Amino acid sequence: MDWKQDEKLERGRRREELKPRLKLLHSNEPVKIALVGDQHIGSKFFNEAAHQATIDRLVNEECHVILMGDAIECSTKDSAGAGVYEQNEILDEQIETFIDLYLPLAKQGKILGIHPGNHEYRLYNTSGLNLTRWMARELGTDYFGFGQLTVISISSSDTKTKSRYRLYTTHGKSGARVNLSKLRAVMGLERVVDADVYAAGHVHLLDKTSRTFYMEDTRNRTMRLEQKHYVLTGSYLSHWSSYAHMANMEPVRNGTPIITFGSHPRSISIEMVEY
Ligand SMILES: [Fe+2]
Repeated sequence: MDWKQDEKLERGRRREELKPRLKLLHSNEPVKIALVGDQHIGSKFFNEAAHQATIDRLVNEECHVILMGDAIECSTKDSAGAGVYEQNEILDEQIETFIDLYLPLAKQGKILGIHPGNHEYRLYNTSGLNLTRWMARELGTDYFGFGQLTVISISSSDTKTKSRYRLYTTHGKSGARVNLSKLRAVMGLERVVDADVYAAGHVHLLDKTSRTFYMEDTRNRTMRLEQKHYVLTGSYLSHWSSYAHMANMEPVRNGTPIITFGSHPRSISIEMVEY
């Protein structure tokens, strides 16, 4: 492909970003998706050891990965607060570290896409540069934008049935400070889109809840119980002496949720990898 064709494709992709898009995932086996977010690479509060343990696990596990935003700290002299003075790496180095850390997963074809977080988006706000799009391009993966619906279709050869799941992911923008309000905010995503699992980052809490409800079973004209799941994807920032500590926010565990979508019978289970 020459550069002219490539440029045309890229412009086409950007136009497509203005429309709602689905990502379809077909499998004959249960599907695992890890949601890694709010790493804040480059911050002096970045829990490098815990993050490396997660990367090592994901490299060795049969799974997909969605990056939930705020992968890098991205504080500049224009940013609010003292963030620019609390970085171990300048922005250019943060991007290099991010690429070094995630290239092994990208090369394995495991990364489904990357959401922008408010930290990366600072650069767009001040200069019009969408850093997340370039980070996605560097890893050869999809730029997910503000929200993405991933549809997972799993065929079971034993029972000749198909299980279909919808996962909605977004960085999120909640200003909630109390854990219950943070969970309520992710539950509020039902106003945006219909899905089986809703996941958001931003509030740095690693937590989950679910809701059980009745729905029509169209196969045999009865009612069955169904569930929706709500996941907060955690962070890799330590608490003590950080802004969160100064603001007297509750300490939270670092980590990453890994969601498993079953083949047959239909099932969703969520493991919290915690540090
Ligand atoms: Fe964050």
